[in-house]
Amino acid sequence: MFARRTGWKLTENRYSAALHKARAQGGRLIDLTASNPTHGNFDFDSAAILSALTHRESLNYDPDPQGLLSARNAVAGYYNTKKVRGTTHAASPEQIFLTTSTSEGYSYLFRLLCDPGDEVLVARPSYPLFEFLAEMQDVQLRCYELFYDHGWHIDFGGLEGLITQRTRAVLVVNPNNPTGSFVRCQELDQIAALCRKQTLALISDEVFLDYEIEGASEASAAFSNECLSFALSGLSKISCLPQMKLAWIVVNGPAELRDQAHARLQIIADTYLSVNAPIQHALPLLLDQRFNVQPQLVRRVRNNLALLDKRLESARAIRRLVVDGGWYAVLRVPARQSDEDLAIELIQRFGVIVHPGHFYDFPQDGYIVVSLITPDEEFREGANVVIGFLDGLL
Ligand SMILES: Cc1ncc(COP(=O)(O)O)c(C=O)c1O
Repeated sequence: MFARRTGWKLTENRYSAALHKARAQGGRLIDLTASNPTHGNFDFDSAAILSALTHRESLNYDPDPQGLLSARNAVAGYYNTKKVRGTTHAASPEQIFLTTSTSEGYSYLFRLLCDPGDEVLVARPSYPLFEFLAEMQDVQLRCYELFYDHGWHIDFGGLEGLITQRTRAVLVVNPNNPTGSFVRCQELDQIAALCRKQTLALISDEVFLDYEIEGASEASAAFSNECLSFALSGLSKISCLPQMKLAWIVVNGPAELRDQAHARLQIIADTYLSVNAPIQHALPLLLDQRFNVQPQLVRRVRNNLALLDKRLESARAIRRLVVDGGWYAVLRVPARQSDEDLAIELIQRFGVIVHPGHFYDFPQDGYIVVSLITPDEEFREGANVVIGFLDGLL
């Protein structure tokens, strides 16, 4: 009856089962994975956000496959205020396609670039949703490794070795989730040159690009002309408004390839016309919300990191890895048991929730991931428990 691609194992894994049980028991849980900004005690300008949705033009239906020009102008304005490689570059509304989410953006791009069974290269560790997004579009993911040496780096030798006749694109997340590593200028240039040489597309997920913590964002594929490139971003992280469901793709590259991609994407987007009018009319005001919320978020992330570092000063067994940018921290912990077992034990014994590294496909045990936008007090309490427990095990 059903397609093989939907033949997922629908039973709960051990981690989710432990979490559901703990929730059902009703005791207090300290959630160090909290990453929904709408539940994070940030001070949103509610009046401005709600009034942005009452635009009179929203009563008309004037669809445009790329999204309304006024909304695309707002996105172009966002890029035109960004400094990349020490200078500002211009993005034009012609290059921009609006989608309801970056997930939808991925499905457009996988449809544009890949026939069933074609391959996309993706970093490991990285964002767990890629597996599902690729599977649903009949795309095969091949993982290139990120390795840690005083910061995360791309294993270029490994990446090049993965390219086959079926490879269609290299995907980077900049900064990556959960490693928080920015793609450096030199790395982006190297990938773009490789993509050009091998006739591959570059897909760059830049949803966290504005969040500079210990590093600075150097490069954006939105301005990369070397190869056919697609930069993805949206309101969910830029303005911390995931519920508004608006994202975009910026298309760039050598003129001929870019024009072909553009024409084909127009047909894909025209088939769905998925972004609603009220949100497009609200977009300029919703994008402006970043000036209010991003400083609050960055302050939270920095405070939580400082707190973590203070607590780790006396810890023998745990180290936190560098956080260039984004909302997460990776902790290197003793691999005395699997990360999943450790995460389950933390839930069952202490009511503290962390993500085991294997959620993000870390190649070995000994990593847990915590959200740095967890409210401060909860973060303090949870970090104390995790560090105290792991250190006590030595
Ligand atoms: C790397 C990355 N890309 C995309 C998204 C989701 O974006 P959207 O809500 O626009 O689909 C997330 C969400 O956490 C993410 O971590």
